[in-house]
Amino acid sequence: MTAVLDTTARFDATTVIDTCGDGTTRLTCADADRGASGRGTRGLAAVAGEGVTVPTTRGEVTYANFDYAASAPALTAVVEQITAALPEYASVHRGAGHLSQLTTERYEQARTAVKRFVRARLDDHVVFTRNTTDAINLLAHCVTGDTVVLDIEHHANLLPWKRSGARVVACQPTLEETLQALEAELACAPAALLAITGASNVTGEVLPIRRLTGIAHRHGARILVDAAQLAPHRALNLTSHGVDYAVFSGHKLYAPFGAGVLVGRGDWLDGAQPYLAGGGATADVSDHGADVRWHSGPARHEAGSPNVLGALSIAAAADVLSALGHDRLGLDEVALCDRLEEGLAAIDGVEILRIWPDSEDRVGIVAFTVTGIAPRAVAEYLSDTHGIGVRDGRFCAHPLLSHLGHPEGAVRASFGLGTSVADVERVIAAVTELVDAHAATSGVHA
Ligand SMILES: Cc1ncc(COP(=O)(O)O)c(C=O)c1O
Repeated sequence: MTAVLDTTARFDATTVIDTCGDGTTRLTCADADRGASGRGTRGLAAVAGEGVTVPTTRGEVTYANFDYAASAPALTAVVEQITAALPEYASVHRGAGHLSQLTTERYEQARTAVKRFVRARLDDHVVFTRNTTDAINLLAHCVTGDTVVLDIEHHANLLPWKRSGARVVACQPTLEETLQALEAELACAPAALLAITGASNVTGEVLPIRRLTGIAHRHGARILVDAAQLAPHRALNLTSHGVDYAVFSGHKLYAPFGAGVLVGRGDWLDGAQPYLAGGGATADVSDHGADVRWHSGPARHEAGSPNVLGALSIAAAADVLSALGHDRLGLDEVALCDRLEEGLAAIDGVEILRIWPDSEDRVGIVAFTVTGIAPRAVAEYLSDTHGIGVRDGRFCAHPLLSHLGHPEGAVRASFGLGTSVADVERVIAAVTELVDAHAATSGVHA
């Protein structure tokens, strides 16, 4: 994707979220044609906290949030829907009261919204979890048979599989060679599942899901897409892409209310022992708990009282993103990404991290290092002096950072809805200032 960047543009669009009678939301944007204009994503949909100021050594400044890949701010529409639902909030599933029935209906409708969001098959299950990590652990608990994973995955999509004897494939110098290595592994012995990230949380590089699905299916394996970073930025279509399972987290999807999702084929889920044993998962329990008949369907793996508001918030965010259109959002984000990458790469001593030279698409994540300055020092400087929030470290992907030649870590700037070109320019200017100051004090140009 490419888009032209107009760095002089300003953002004052007003976005209106209509809550429709059918329980869905539609987004009408006063600047509906802003689209791939390259004017950033601010104004496409409002997020909570826009304009919040923070203290710096130079005084109070507007916070520039570049840590979306860790946790994104809530969409204003999500906050509004949760606020509206709270007075009518009540227990779900077993209450006879009117509000219990209403809340139960909303909770179950949230599953439908998730299905709509990822274009799931009619008979797919939507299980609400705590987050992506929880959702992957749940699926790992259900899979019988080998799982194939890449060695550069986020720990959440590596360690649960290692526990159950994963076959780990080494990342190759190119994406093409990596796909071939995965195919070779799947071809050499039957595997039940290929578990793969949709977009890297370190470099933002997007993997070719359709091709990977073809590779897995060709060798009789199913595919899980860890969509924690993909779902906020790109459309998922389980049905047409043939993806068997997808997982993602509400807090990265502008819905930080403590829930996540596993969506996909029901047979393995129904065939496994419940993830948690307890009320809600049970249809019938005999005296002394000697015999238990467990539910099938999502309830089987949702024992205990569910996080209803978390589920409703994910549904609300999913509806907003669907109405907005991932394609349009993607173009604006790629333009911001291009500018950030180009601006940072032009600074002496800055190295942009990338896994493969031949990957074609990436979401709003740019990881980089600065020669001679520790990642933590860069992150602290950006925060303390400029009010810019980035992440530093190894991003729960230690093997990948080692693979990239930076076992000591890196700096990651990530963004999404609510990010303006001016925000991106602030990051570039701040890193430039830091590098110049470092060169002046060390007497060596970085
Ligand atoms: C690609 C990827 N997978 C999984 C996770 C784990 O997500 P959570 O912390 O919400 O469980 C993350 C979090 O950063 C991630 O980026």
